[in-house]
Order: sequence, then C-alpha cells, then structure tokens
Amino acid sequence: MSRDAKRGEILSSVIEVNNLRTYFNLDDGVLKAVDGVSFDVASKRTLGIIGESGCGKSVTAQSILRIVPNPGQIVGGQILLQTDEEEPVDLTALDQSGERMRSIRGRHISMIFQEPMTSLSPVHTIGNQIMEAILLHRTPNDREAREITLEMLERVGISNPRQRIDEYPHQFSGGMRQRAMIAMALSCRPTLLIADEPTTALDVTVQAQILELMRELQDLYGMSILYITHDLGVIAEIADEVAVMYLGRVVEQGTTRQIFHSPLHPYTRGLLKSIPMLGRKARVRLDAISGTVPIPINPPWRCGFWNRCPDRKAGHCDVAVPALVDMGDGHRVRCFLHSEGQESRPTETSKQLRKTRRRRSAGAPHEEPLAEGSQL
Ligand SMILES: Nc1ncnc2c1ncn2[C@@H]1O[C@H](COP(=O)(O)OP(=O)(O)OP(=O)(O)O)[C@@H](O)[C@H]1O
Ligand code: SF4
Ligand SMILES: [Mg+2]
Repeated sequence: MSRDAKRGEILSSVIEVNNLRTYFNLDDGVLKAVDGVSFDVASKRTLGIIGESGCGKSVTAQSILRIVPNPGQIVGGQILLQTDEEEPVDLTALDQSGERMRSIRGRHISMIFQEPMTSLSPVHTIGNQIMEAILLHRTPNDREAREITLEMLERVGISNPRQRIDEYPHQFSGGMRQRAMIAMALSCRPTLLIADEPTTALDVTVQAQILELMRELQDLYGMSILYITHDLGVIAEIADEVAVMYLGRVVEQGTTRQIFHSPLHPYTRGLLKSIPMLGRKARVRLDAISGTVPIPINPPWRCGFWNRCPDRKAGHCDVAVPALVDMGDGHRVRCFLHSEGQESRPTETSKQLRKTRRRRSAGAPHEEPLAEGSQL
C-alpha cells in the first residue's frame, strides 16, 4: 500500500517486491546484481527507477518477468503480483517457463525495451506480431484481433494504420518502431508496464512524444508503470515516485518531489548535481560523481557507496550495511548519516553462499547452482 502524494488517498499495490536477491554464479565468484531490493508500485501510478549503469535496474525488471539469463538466479525474496484472483501470486515461486508465468507475461505484465528489435521480429509484419498476443490473451477471433490491432496502432499515433499494419519493422522509422512496440505491449491491457530505457535511443522530440503517449495511455487504461532509466530529466517528467538504485540495492525512495527537492543520500545528491541546470554559470564545472560503479562480485559487507562517498565515516560505513529506513513521511534512505546504527543483517542466503564457496575451495564442482527461492 502507498499514499498518493497529490491526492492523499491510500492506493493498493499492483506489485510488491520484497527483499529480492538475484545473483549470477560466475567463475570469479558470485555477482550480486540485485541484493535485497524492496519496493511497490501503486495502482495507476508510475515508479521510476534510476541509477548509473550496472546498478541492477534491468536485472530487477528481468527478475519480475522471470527472464533472468543464465547463470543468473533469484536466490531470495518475493515478487507479489495482484492478479484477478483475491490473493496475490508470488512470481518467484512459479516455474519461469511454465504456463502460468507465460500467461502472466503479456496478460498482466508487459515490457518495452530500449531497442524495439528486441521484441519485434524482422520477418513478420507489425500487424501479425501484435495480433499474435491479442489472439493468445484476448480473443480467438482473427477479425476481432485485427480490429483491436488497428485501433492500437491508431492510438499510438501511427498514421494510416490500414496500410501500416501489413508492413515489416524495417519499413518503420525508429520512433515508429518504438510506437509499434508500445502498441504490442499494451494490446492486452496489462496491469503493469515495465519500460526499460524506452526512449534513450530516440531524439529529444520523439522522446517527448513517446512520454506524452505513455501518460495518455496510462490515463486511458489505468495501468501502473515501472519506468527504468538513468535520465533524471525523464524521471522528473513521468514518475510519481522514484527509487534510486546503487550496487544492487535501493538506497533512497520517495515521491518525485522528495527525491528532487530534498534528496538525503549522498549518491542521490551526487546524481542531481551532475545534471545541467538553467541559470547555472556557464563556466561552473558540473559535479559528476567521481569513480565508477564497482562490479559486485563477492562484495564486502559494507555500504555499497563507501569508495565514492564524500561523507563516509571509517569504522561505521565500512563495517556494516545501512538498513533502508523510513524517515516518517514515506521517504526512505539507506545511509548511516540518517540512521545511525540501523544495519541490514547478512542473510541466510549470504551464509549459504559462503558455505557454497567454502565447499568449492574444498574441491566441490564449480557449476553448483544456487538454490532458487531459498529462505532469507
Ligand atoms: N547476463 C549477465 N551475466 C553476468 N552478469 C550480468 C548479466 N546481466 C547483468 N549482469 C551484471 O549485473 C549487474 C547489474 O546489471 P544491470 O544490467 O541490471 O544494470 P543496469 O542498472 O540495467 O545498467 P544499464 O543502465 O547499463 O542498463 C552488473 O554488474 C552487470 O554486469
Ligand atoms: S553509509 Fe556512509 S559511505 Fe554510505 S552513503 Fe552514507 S555516509 Fe556514505
Ligand atoms: Mg539496463
């Protein structure tokens, strides 16, 4: 449950992610791409996820859709999706290639990617590809499915849809392909749309049009959106709430206003300082955060931002991981500056991984998989 910042109403969650952990078991060690992520997306609202490259944004999305590539595995946590049934379904407990999960993809959750060709096939017409999903999830009738497809193409602003429906992706421009992919994602009226950098490859005018279109379609169909990007300008435009990710964890979460007007975490402050602002003197250097996101292979048990943080305190930040703490108004932050002594605890999963590594160094087979859905 969360509160609508603008209207003060309590909203039900469409999806609730609790302490999600998705690890890649690599030759060099365990890469903790997502390491204890929790958030929820309220009905008909947009949650923006921001963070630099490698923070775990896409792996979080892949985990929700259960399409994490090998050797990645969900090793802990819950992903509770509200479907038409009374009780929410925990997606981590489903077989990733089973019928239930396949029907959830498309029917309840759809995804749009940065590169439309990730989801469009070059050898089938745009119309046939959109119709395929409609025939699978909405109606078995070909004629009706074609009419819905034409309506969707029109809604996303593709002119002359009766001609365009029978064209192939290579006959569409980049912006049009993005629109076609949105039409395909929305054709089954999903409750949750996950958009992973959907406008990064587009020029700013087309980007603005696509954002406007997504807002319109959200109002029309009442869907929730999880919008992933590293572009703060886009997030300010589209999101009601923002989760800032760093090194596989949410380090700050709040309403878009809280994040942009009163950021608490040194990482969020660094990100905000790195964007150009109108009125700033031309010769003032933009403060980019120094250093880069480390690769989280066997990361030490300390604050993930330790080696880049201008405010770090030895003996505190390098010996424990701060917990994500609510400041009382729904604004949550993971930093000892705001929550002295409130630590996360190493989980059973971490203990289990240490045991796996010990067994490995004692000669156990390297490929031993992590236990999916193991208890935290
Ligand atoms: N298939 C994979 N195999 C091994 N490691 C992976 C794989 N996919 C992602 N990772 C690692 O997981 C971590 C999180 O990656 P992720 O793709 O989620 O980052 P991101 O926040 O989406 O970054 P970007 O903004 O560049 O898209 C990174 O350290 C990345 O190298
Ligand atoms: S916990 Fe310490 S190192 Fe981490 S962000 Fe806060 S001040 Fe910086
Ligand atoms: Mg990504």
